[in-house]
Amino acid sequence: MNQDTESILFTAKSIGNVAVANRFVRSATFECAANEDGSVGDKYSKIYERLSKGKVGLIISGMMHISEPGKSYQFQAGLHSDEMIPGLSKMTKKVHQAGSKIFAQIAHGGRQTLVQGRRPMAPSGGGLDFIYQVIPRPMTIDEIKAVIADFGNAALRAKQAGFDGVQVHGAHGYLIHEFLSPFFNHRSDEWGGNANNRFRFLKCVYESVREKVGDDFPVIIKLNVNDHTPQKGLSIEEVKMHCERLAEMGIDAVELSCGTLAYSMFNQSRGDVPAKGFSSTLPLPFQWVGARFFAMVFPQQRYIFEEGYNLWASRHIRKVMPDVPLIMVGGLRSPDVMANIIQQNQADFVSMCRPLIREPMIIKKWQDGNKKPVSCVNCNKCFVVLAHNEVLSCGNNRTF
Ligand SMILES: Cc1cc2nc3c(=O)[nH]c(=O)nc-3n(C[C@H](O)[C@H](O)[C@H](O)COP(=O)(O)O)c2cc1C
Ligand code: SF4
Repeated sequence: MNQDTESILFTAKSIGNVAVANRFVRSATFECAANEDGSVGDKYSKIYERLSKGKVGLIISGMMHISEPGKSYQFQAGLHSDEMIPGLSKMTKKVHQAGSKIFAQIAHGGRQTLVQGRRPMAPSGGGLDFIYQVIPRPMTIDEIKAVIADFGNAALRAKQAGFDGVQVHGAHGYLIHEFLSPFFNHRSDEWGGNANNRFRFLKCVYESVREKVGDDFPVIIKLNVNDHTPQKGLSIEEVKMHCERLAEMGIDAVELSCGTLAYSMFNQSRGDVPAKGFSSTLPLPFQWVGARFFAMVFPQQRYIFEEGYNLWASRHIRKVMPDVPLIMVGGLRSPDVMANIIQQNQADFVSMCRPLIREPMIIKKWQDGNKKPVSCVNCNKCFVVLAHNEVLSCGNNRTF
């Protein structure tokens, strides 16, 4: 890493009134480390203690459900009840002792859930997908209103548990993104039918959260710039409109991402498709066929890894919200590339997920002058670890 790189990546910058010590963000990463009721203990805290000792400026938690019906995965941490607060408070204290800031990512799974049965709620009904294998049912107006209120209450609990801010999960095919995307949202009432109506749910969620946490608590969002759905999803023009409105409403930062778990699991993260690993979750006699089927549904050549694969969107989004901190995620690996991104004003923060699963201390090493490149090879076997319901870890060099 050269001198300039070092200096710019390790300068402080604020999000709302929260000063972040450097420009590195740990992008939200599901941990599979909570208790079955969503509460957390040492197993979960250790992941975050390590990241803070590794000098990550801003850590964003893995997705946390805002209500029981919004839960997507077993062993997912929750903010759905006050009972979750004590365990989370212990964790946030430890993170603060090491000097990092931590935001809670708040989410409702919508149709992307493995724990709500075969008919989970979503903006509209829809067909079966390969990953979640559900047939969603359209939400009633009362359900929509209840979920909006749940987001506000969960954000308040995050504040009470010592988080420094919240990130609303508006990407990757979960409920908020389902409302935003014309691929998922086919409603003809005030919650769908055109971009303005599709934005309404997010607008109400934001207002509900803001009302509960107040103006001095950062509220940020993760948004898709490309859905990679089989038919037309969000267009960049729509994303620009949404960002402009969010900026007017007072959003404190925006993180740009892409992909939809149900239909394009490996667009979100790019790299290898570990078909054999995923099939190892099936009973032995089905594994051979399962692996072939998986590789057919997710053909490797569609997900070629490329450093900074969401960067193209920065020039569009910067224009419409020049004063809102922009966080860029997606295949960022080299400190020199990341420094250029900041220097050229393409983003204010650079965000990583997989490199920090494999090496939670990598940023500290860079800060200490060690020029070590990241050793994550984008094999995506960390997804396989989660598919086995095991605590998040690097799955490279592991036989599944
Ligand atoms: C194992 C794993 C778990 C993830 N969990 C989440 C999550 O809970 N919330 C979220 O917004 N993104 C999640 N992501 C997506 C990442 O935050 C990130 O957007 C994506 O992996 C690209 O960044 P990277 O190239 O640095 O890995 C996850 C990715 C991986 C690999
Ligand atoms: S399993 Fe390890 S090396 Fe492979 S993508 Fe995940 S973190 Fe990177």
